[in-house]
Amino acid sequence: MKIVDIIEKKKNGNSLSEEEIKFFINGIMDGSIEDYQTSALLMAIYFRGMNIDETTILTKYMVESGEKLDLSDISDNIVDKHSTGGVGDKITLIFLPLMAAAGVYTAKLSGRGLGHTGGTIDKLESIPGFRTDLSVDEFKKKVKEYKTAIAAQTLSLAPADGKLYALRDVTSTVDIIPLIASSVVSKKIASGANHIILDVKYGSGAFIKTAKEAQKLSEVMVEVGKRLNRNICAVISSMEQPLGRAIGNSVEVQEVIEFLKGNMEPDLKEITYTLCYKAFEKTGMYKTKYEVYDYLDELIMSGKALEKFKEIILSQNGDVSFIEDYTKLPQASIKYEIKSDKSGFVKNIDALKIAKACKNLGAGREKKTDLIDYSAGIYLTQKYSEPVKEGEIIAVIYTNNQESVKEAEILIKSAFEISDKQPASYSLINKIID
Ligand code: URA
Repeated sequence: MKIVDIIEKKKNGNSLSEEEIKFFINGIMDGSIEDYQTSALLMAIYFRGMNIDETTILTKYMVESGEKLDLSDISDNIVDKHSTGGVGDKITLIFLPLMAAAGVYTAKLSGRGLGHTGGTIDKLESIPGFRTDLSVDEFKKKVKEYKTAIAAQTLSLAPADGKLYALRDVTSTVDIIPLIASSVVSKKIASGANHIILDVKYGSGAFIKTAKEAQKLSEVMVEVGKRLNRNICAVISSMEQPLGRAIGNSVEVQEVIEFLKGNMEPDLKEITYTLCYKAFEKTGMYKTKYEVYDYLDELIMSGKALEKFKEIILSQNGDVSFIEDYTKLPQASIKYEIKSDKSGFVKNIDALKIAKACKNLGAGREKKTDLIDYSAGIYLTQKYSEPVKEGEIIAVIYTNNQESVKEAEILIKSAFEISDKQPASYSLINKIID
């Protein structure tokens, strides 16, 4: 078999066989296929696509390319939750303690952010002492004892994805459904949980821009996951506006604590509760949606979920004193208030502009090796549909970089759309694919 024939076949719009896909993945891993050949095949896939059989086979061999976490000695009822990424998305940090407080096992391997703001691991690392570099043994022990653990994704799981993604990133072949689906689902399957809840976002602050594309991607990911024996679903939601009020790293951790203390932002609550409800359903703890929502309220209002979060932080070496005193979290030297130029109601807050401002303030990174400023971020004092008066504060920015302040102010002001009429509230959830 020759890689050039496989490229030719895909270039002509034909489907690849299992043997050919296996040859391709093996060749990437053993170095017998050159990067320029892989790039050519990726571009052929980009233009010619892959059907569901090919996508499933690709995913299977990406899983086979590395280690697989075996969690079966803990339970065969373990949930993994994965978000395709959004602005202000701190839901994992709420979902895990809630599930653990309910007695449901979750095991979460997560990434550092490469986009405008930090990823879940960056957010957690803003907690003094918090360790995310757990060995497989440590990770499993903690899941067993505390019902949950969260660690940085190791490169040994689905390593073919790491290699492919690096090339996709520099050849403009990221945004194509079969490649996104195989990338996401292979990592989830290699992570060992048998129930997978995907949180798929679309809109200005997501890498998928339309609900239709998000639905197509979700359908493919769910079908591939099912064919590879996972109990999987996708919750599709809008990411036109940031989630919650805090965007950054330590500011988001603070918002998580507030949520667990009962001060729940409605948009965060809607998505979190829906994901929890699906997790209950998948694990067989299914009750009606209303019963589940009441139960989650009880876990929060009784303080059990917050207690669980404290336990998780302590179990991973974190200092929990910040829960009562937020100044124990990294603090920015500059705090700057942004005021509205006009009166009215907030009609929209463009998530992408907010994310860009956040990155300029120091909360995100350009390259994997860039350092992140955990204290940098934005707090939106006004949100969708809320009234605002001219001269009133709409957002507060936190940074250590004075030079970034003016540009952030311009971006944030342009992100806010103020209208005379109060816009109606709407549901963020677009669809659930089971
Ligand atoms: N996230 C992933 O893990 N892979 C992709 O291809 C895109 C987003």
